[in-house]
Amino acid sequence: MARDTDRDHYIINGGRPLTGEVTIGGAKNAALAIIAASIMTDETVTIENVPDVRDTNVMLEAMEGIGVKISRLDRHTIEINGSRVENVNIDTENIRKIRASYYLLGALLGKYCHAEVPLPGGCDIGSRPIDQHVKGFRALGAKVNIERGIMKASADKLSAAHIYMDVVTVGATINVMMASVMADGKTIIENAAKEPHIVDVANFLNSMGANIKGAGTDVIRIKGVDRLHACTYSVIPDQIEAGTFMFAAAITGGNILVKNVIPKHLESISAKLEEIGCHVEEFDDAVRVSSFGRLQPTHIKTLPYPGYPTDMQPQAGVALALADGVSTITESIFENRFRYVDELTRMGAAIRVEGNTAIIDGVQHFTGAHVQAPDLRAGAALVLAALSADGTTTMDDIHFIERGYEDFDEKLRSLGGDIRKTDNIRQESRKSKFKVV
Ligand code: UD1
Repeated sequence: MARDTDRDHYIINGGRPLTGEVTIGGAKNAALAIIAASIMTDETVTIENVPDVRDTNVMLEAMEGIGVKISRLDRHTIEINGSRVENVNIDTENIRKIRASYYLLGALLGKYCHAEVPLPGGCDIGSRPIDQHVKGFRALGAKVNIERGIMKASADKLSAAHIYMDVVTVGATINVMMASVMADGKTIIENAAKEPHIVDVANFLNSMGANIKGAGTDVIRIKGVDRLHACTYSVIPDQIEAGTFMFAAAITGGNILVKNVIPKHLESISAKLEEIGCHVEEFDDAVRVSSFGRLQPTHIKTLPYPGYPTDMQPQAGVALALADGVSTITESIFENRFRYVDELTRMGAAIRVEGNTAIIDGVQHFTGAHVQAPDLRAGAALVLAALSADGTTTMDDIHFIERGYEDFDEKLRSLGGDIRKTDNIRQESRKSKFKVV
């Protein structure tokens, strides 16, 4: 029987600068969309560089549940065959847990003109409307209803449309792109999101025979094709995992070579690290971040790509909480992304949140405490705080972190971090000197 990993905790002894090399895996958010899109052909698709994290595994399980054949060739290579999809109604406990389940809507609707998928779950980082997905599907000719938490979309046939997104949204851009790939005619998506994973999903669909132009700009043009075919495709490196390790160097006063990255995707992160006093060196497929002395304060506003990513906001918050002066962070994408602030305050940070802005008065150091991971990225950021803190931190709810980071604790240990996972925190507390409160 599978172990209940929801009860796992981290125990972290801080105070050591992280140094060494770390290799970044495939982008979770690109992989989730690409895995879903793989079912749009009846031929077998091979996807390489798929991160072995909870969210991708939940997605693969959900797809198996509707008859998709999934074979894992090795830890990161998956073969997917969607020729035997027997049910376009996906309603499993698992699929409700992840945000990206909505990509199955675009993929199933695009292929079968019919899909029923529960409304997405995912991290509680704010209200997450799906009106732009609905608007896009309707523009393509689908009838869309939401009944008892399930979104149902169906059409006799899908026809191209000119769609103007009211907000810049990654999810709706990808979903509408998938749904329109085999629609009749030429679809235009304006005010499209430009994130690296939009380009990756478009490249993947084009490898399957789609005709998508302009991904990575704010106008995407999709000429409908009759069918898609087999391909082998490798997912791009994870921008956010890379950024997290770059900030790990900054926060712990370390020196880390972050390998297997696309430095262009990291520019907004590198720029902020340089502003706060770190040294960032770029190579063809790696970046080195080193940090000496006290970090400097700065101001950050999260924005759609190529702006500073919201998924890197908590990591920056932790760094700025140690800076020599007052910084601000304005969160403009999701309103509930400051939930790490209370936890960080227990570790000694001085942060005040006013509306969507955090005013951060830097302190000299954090101290270990008992904290909870509030969501995926906030959890990872608190781990970095704990690695720099004086003393021991115990962290609950680390299953959030495992949704999106593969072997996070192992990678941090290889950089010299003192971090362990345990499922029995009380026994551990008796063994060592710290106390669970
Ligand atoms: C994706 C990422 C998430 C990241 C986010 C922004 C996945 C699985 N998740 O989430 O990690 O933080 O992009 O980079 O890839 N919005 C609407 N209506 C809609 C859709 C979105 O108003 O129909 C709003 C949202 O409330 C938010 C903004 O648009 O304020 C951006 O959301 P979006 O880019 O869609 O985020 P996700 O795709 O959910």
